[in-house]
Amino acid sequence: MDIVCTDKEALIFQQIGKAAASLNMPCYLIGGFVRDKIIGRATKDIDIVCIGDGISLAHKVAEAFHPKPYVSFFKNFGTAQIKIDDLEIEFVGARKESYAKNSRKPEVVPGTIEDDQNRRDFTINAMAISLNAADYGSLIDPFNGIQSIRDKIIVTPLEPSQTFSDDPLRMMRAIRFAAQLNYTIVPETLAAIAANVHRISIVSQERITDELNKIMLCEKPSVGWDLLFKTGLLQKIFPQMVDLHGAEYIDGLGHKDNFYHTLQVLDNMATSTDDLWLRWAALLHDIGKPATKRFEEGHGFTFHGHEVVGARMVPKIFSKLKLPLNEKMKQVQKLVLLHLRPISLTKENITDSAIRRLLFDAGEDIDALMMLCSADITSKNKHKVKRYLQNFELVKERLLEVEDADRIRNWQPPITGEIIMATFGLTPGRQVGIIKDAIREAILDGVIPNEYEAAKKFMLEKGKELDLEAIE
Ligand code: CTP
Repeated sequence: MDIVCTDKEALIFQQIGKAAASLNMPCYLIGGFVRDKIIGRATKDIDIVCIGDGISLAHKVAEAFHPKPYVSFFKNFGTAQIKIDDLEIEFVGARKESYAKNSRKPEVVPGTIEDDQNRRDFTINAMAISLNAADYGSLIDPFNGIQSIRDKIIVTPLEPSQTFSDDPLRMMRAIRFAAQLNYTIVPETLAAIAANVHRISIVSQERITDELNKIMLCEKPSVGWDLLFKTGLLQKIFPQMVDLHGAEYIDGLGHKDNFYHTLQVLDNMATSTDDLWLRWAALLHDIGKPATKRFEEGHGFTFHGHEVVGARMVPKIFSKLKLPLNEKMKQVQKLVLLHLRPISLTKENITDSAIRRLLFDAGEDIDALMMLCSADITSKNKHKVKRYLQNFELVKERLLEVEDADRIRNWQPPITGEIIMATFGLTPGRQVGIIKDAIREAILDGVIPNEYEAAKKFMLEKGKELDLEAIE
């Protein structure tokens, strides 16, 4: 099989072949590495299957390199790993598996290379390349995975329902590969996913979310999300997304399908950034719409406050999906909360204070917010889109002007709570908050400039209004 390997890879494979021969142990390259090399995708994870003990082979291979790489191994699983430069090489003995109904953990017994290929998830992942002297480099492809690559299809080697019932994570993997590679899941395989969605309940949330994140990082993440929806998996793993689906009409007044709108926004966002969290913000920007949907007589559907409700949903969704509850979650939450603000500015005469407020509220996420807002323009009416985008450019210019003059981004008012307490001899409490807020508002509204002396004067006036006496 002609696959394009680097010189370093070729050398490593020769050494593995030699080490395996010395142990009298046939061995093969298998799985994702073979697939990606044939497709021409970059790959760093190399899987080696041998007919025998993978741990012994790893130790033997390690001896051939200087300096000798560290061999990490798991005796219980019979797997071992070595790292050579940036390549991770995993060794395992060929096996035969049978699955218990309520677990993803199979019973494993040693097997032949055919047994090992039989237990793999998709034809494109079941190809092996021999590293044995007699047929070094030849492709062993019992399920014609090479043809699946040519046809750009995802198909299971064995009966699909069995494959998915055995290991339901493979349903997520099928959809993720379809999205990553832009392949089609063949109808029989797709139908088997739909028939087995209930089995996803035995898969850990971390594994599911791992696949969701991989879908998110695809060039067109909508492909994966739409497949999750159409197979019924989405209903099981993320029902709030399904609630976005569907358009409704009353008396000729309707609203767009928020599920497909969201996917369009996500794809738009994906053309602007590879940042996973900005893509999650796009996915979640309208998540509060179903809960806030109302029909107003003669006017149509409204979703008032959906950004506030949506922002409140973000921590719960992150927690359920076991996404990190850290500053990334806060960033997503902030973007969901603010996603209407730049657009609302395009509809009125933009005052400096409105711009300042947006800069203050968005802080260092202002560029991400503007990106999300551009992505959110999905109207089919070309004139409307053009008008929005033009107004939007205007807002961007004004943001730059005001930021240049007032430096509001990442801004903290020049008078802190500590200064207020020291000035009036106060302990932390309501009055400190009132004065602090008043100073911030006055600066954002342009009543006083963003400077220490002006803010101090304003603080003393505010103190007087509250009957406070300055002690220093
Ligand atoms: N595999 C499988 N069923 C799974 C997971 C993995 O059959 N649920 C097999 C496949 O043959 C796969 C190989 O194990 O090619 C290696 O799995 P893994 O490293 O998880 O995935 P890759 O296919 O290499 O792809 P990626 O690295 O993109 O996840």
